[in-house]
Amino acid sequence: MSNICVIGTGYVGLVTGTCFADLGNQVVCLDVDQDRVEKLKQGVMPIYEPGLEELVSLNVRAGRLTFTTSYSEALKDAEVAFIAVGTPSGVDGEADLQYVRSAAETIADEVDHPIIVVNKSTVPVGTGDWVAEIIQKHRSGRPLDFCVVSNPEFLREGSAINDFMNPDRVVLGSTNRGAANQVAQLYISLRCPILITDLRTAEMIKYASNAFLATRISFINEIANICEEVGADVREVADGMGLDKRIGRAFLDAGLGWGGSCFPKDVKALAHMAVLHGTHPQLLQAVMEINRNQRRRAVVRLRRVLNTLSDKVIGVLGLSFKPNTDDIRDAPALEVIHLLQNEGARIQAYDPQAMEAASKVLTRIRLCENPYEVADGADALILATEWNEFKNLDFTRIYELMRHPVILDGRNLWDRNRLRKMGFTYFGVGRNGISNLPS
Ligand SMILES: NC(=O)c1ccc[n+]([C@@H]2O[C@H](COP(=O)([O-])OP(=O)(O)OC[C@H]3O[C@@H](n4cnc5c(N)ncnc54)[C@H](O)[C@@H]3O)[C@@H](O)[C@H]2O)c1
Repeated sequence: MSNICVIGTGYVGLVTGTCFADLGNQVVCLDVDQDRVEKLKQGVMPIYEPGLEELVSLNVRAGRLTFTTSYSEALKDAEVAFIAVGTPSGVDGEADLQYVRSAAETIADEVDHPIIVVNKSTVPVGTGDWVAEIIQKHRSGRPLDFCVVSNPEFLREGSAINDFMNPDRVVLGSTNRGAANQVAQLYISLRCPILITDLRTAEMIKYASNAFLATRISFINEIANICEEVGADVREVADGMGLDKRIGRAFLDAGLGWGGSCFPKDVKALAHMAVLHGTHPQLLQAVMEINRNQRRRAVVRLRRVLNTLSDKVIGVLGLSFKPNTDDIRDAPALEVIHLLQNEGARIQAYDPQAMEAASKVLTRIRLCENPYEVADGADALILATEWNEFKNLDFTRIYELMRHPVILDGRNLWDRNRLRKMGFTYFGVGRNGISNLPS
């Protein structure tokens, strides 16, 4: 059992803290957002993540998990402090480290006992050393027995608890092997491979992993676009490729492109880091460019089939960047909506969990109560996120409700033959065949 402090109670911090508590540790989760902490104290989750509310409640009741805004309280007994604050994109695509800096400075101010500081936030290579420097400088004459370990997080929103509890691997980087081993002990009961590297290598593993996954998606989207021109079906192409053990099927689903709180900012930050160090990240640039085009292609397709988008009513199903989360950061749906609105389209949309978040950032949009309200009077319907509840819609009802029965299935979710037989003009991504392309 260890005393752990987790700084930041977002998707990563809250899941990390809760899971460590569930593994029997004493955990204090800290956030500077008072409202968030107040809600957590009352058992109200600030985010939607399946299974989280129950696990938080269980561990709070067991006395292993508490929440605070007070650094001194959170760090008082902490042997290990995890930094899990946000690292959003800065103006030039670099990772904005202001929250990491602030967390490091406050640790330096508040701690007077030996401590291991663990960077769980995704941070540019070299940040571990930088955090150590910040803490040292900030102590000014009051030496502190501490060391920094990098422990990048690989969990996915929507299956975060399962991913944390059953990781493919845990990566730990440090200049201090003893500290890395001590952090490794926290994960030992998960019985997964634990890779111990130097600090910079661990930091790079995170960026390289995310960039590679984004590359796979951009790759299959490029193949999808070629499939459309040559009359092949990208889903079957991906199945055929995926059966090759060297390739695998994961992250080979064509669609509206990758989004979310990680891939966009991490690929950008890695490219920025590369340029800063004098290399030319041409593959990463292409990966990002393909992704931007993928959204534009969807809009061009609709414009071609409807002749114009001006004053057309477009229904959008799904706003979160993927199913089972309320996270809309860099969601493909949002960009498609902006592009459609720029061409004068009127948008009505629905998402099972992301309506509150969407209402804060989207303007001139009608937020609906269910998929059928979205279809009502629509000239076209776009599926942007493949939530389970969209899998088996009543398409007879939808056909009757829509002004024009045009469907753009941005996730290749629905049975195109059935929908076409029902009279819909159906477009998927990369599986339309030459004869079905809009003229
Ligand atoms: N979201 C994911 O799926 C995911 C997966 C792997 C890695 N990551 C990385 O983990 C980090 C956190 O991501 P997230 O999605 O959980 O972020 P988030 O935006 O959901 O949460 C960050 C939290 O940190 C708090 N915070 C900011 N500054 C603080 C400070 N100085 N002290 C205490 N709290 C502070 C904020 O109030 C917020 O609640 C990022 O670097 C991200 O790239 C995220």
